[in-house]
Amino acid sequence: MLGPVWPDGTDRLAGKDMNLFPTLSNAWLLSENGRIAAYGTMDQELPEADEVIDATGRWVLPAFCDSHTHLVFARSREEEFEMRIRGRSYEEIAAAGGGILNSARKLQQASADELEASALERLAEIERMGTGAVEIKSGYGLTVDAELKILRVIQKLRSQSRLIIRSTFLGAHALPLEYRQDRNGYIKLITDVMLPQIADEGLADYCDVFCENGFFTPEETDTILQAAWKYDIAPRIHANQLAVSGGVQAGVRNNAISVDHLEHITRNEIDCLLDSNTLPTALPSCSFFLNLPYAPGRDIIDAGLPLVLATDYNPGSTPSGKIPFVLSLACIKMRLTPEEAINAVTVNGAAAMQISDRAGSITAGKDARLIITRPMEHLAYLPYAFGGDHIERTILPTIS
Ligand code: NIG
Ligand code: FE
Repeated sequence: MLGPVWPDGTDRLAGKDMNLFPTLSNAWLLSENGRIAAYGTMDQELPEADEVIDATGRWVLPAFCDSHTHLVFARSREEEFEMRIRGRSYEEIAAAGGGILNSARKLQQASADELEASALERLAEIERMGTGAVEIKSGYGLTVDAELKILRVIQKLRSQSRLIIRSTFLGAHALPLEYRQDRNGYIKLITDVMLPQIADEGLADYCDVFCENGFFTPEETDTILQAAWKYDIAPRIHANQLAVSGGVQAGVRNNAISVDHLEHITRNEIDCLLDSNTLPTALPSCSFFLNLPYAPGRDIIDAGLPLVLATDYNPGSTPSGKIPFVLSLACIKMRLTPEEAINAVTVNGAAAMQISDRAGSITAGKDARLIITRPMEHLAYLPYAFGGDHIERTILPTIS
């Protein structure tokens, strides 16, 4: 089975359309020079090919587009996991200098080569689990040198991985301890020192802010995003993870590509998104890991909005880059249909990374960036048999 087969120009799906999933059964697909050249059904005459892969009984889907990760990091944080089991909260650990600041200390000490080697292993791991395009954020540097180091590592990964990689500058991830009495000093460091240098080296496609109580306010978010726009760096932000924080409105008024997390959202935020092009993105494996509420994905889609799903792969709140698990959580905890969930990590995930011309659907001319599942009759088996190993093969174009 081949799908979803979308006509050229299907760039995002919203509301009821998210449940559409056009397929071809008993199908073939021809890839030429890494692009989808043609597809059809086996009762037609088959084109000549140098290599044939038999996918009988399997599903051929677009590779997943994971539009929110922090997968360049120095060390895991299982000690904080154990602290939370004993009753400390994520916010308490962060306020005491752990959390993101803990990761920043470790990353500041790590060499670029070490960071690159561990990130390459994570990229290989997510590729095996079906991901073909990924966004990666900085934000574990928090000094000029360390933010540049992590962004340069992300840049270098691009030439070593077959995944499409989009990079995001997240200097406003947490306030470094030495700026606790001087918030504006750190914001100025971001806007006047980090951003110009990052723009000069072409290191970031996007700029992110953790807009949240205890992290950065909506007003500080405005300042940073407006500074980024001056360099044509578009925003995508963390909003409403821990509380209704004004982050959605800050994202929309700054023309953010996406607002991500949304564990806490009311009708006001939904109405605000309906008036915008900003894509709401839910990260259910973060809710699972931190025991947070799940973003109300069902309500977001029922309101007529598009929904994007992503992993949030990072050492603190989501130590997993497994999209198939995100699909299971979206169906089980957010009541998405399997079709809606898969559209949210393919066509809509590609839209959230602005790579719809290359990825996210089975469309002639796009990259042959595909997954072949293990034998399965129904698409629903993929999210249903949660935790399983259902991706037999990920096919990505070779590095050019
Ligand atoms: O998206 N919320 C902010 N950033 C990450 C977590 C970072 C961390 O704890 O290291 C997130 O959940
Ligand atoms: Fe995140």
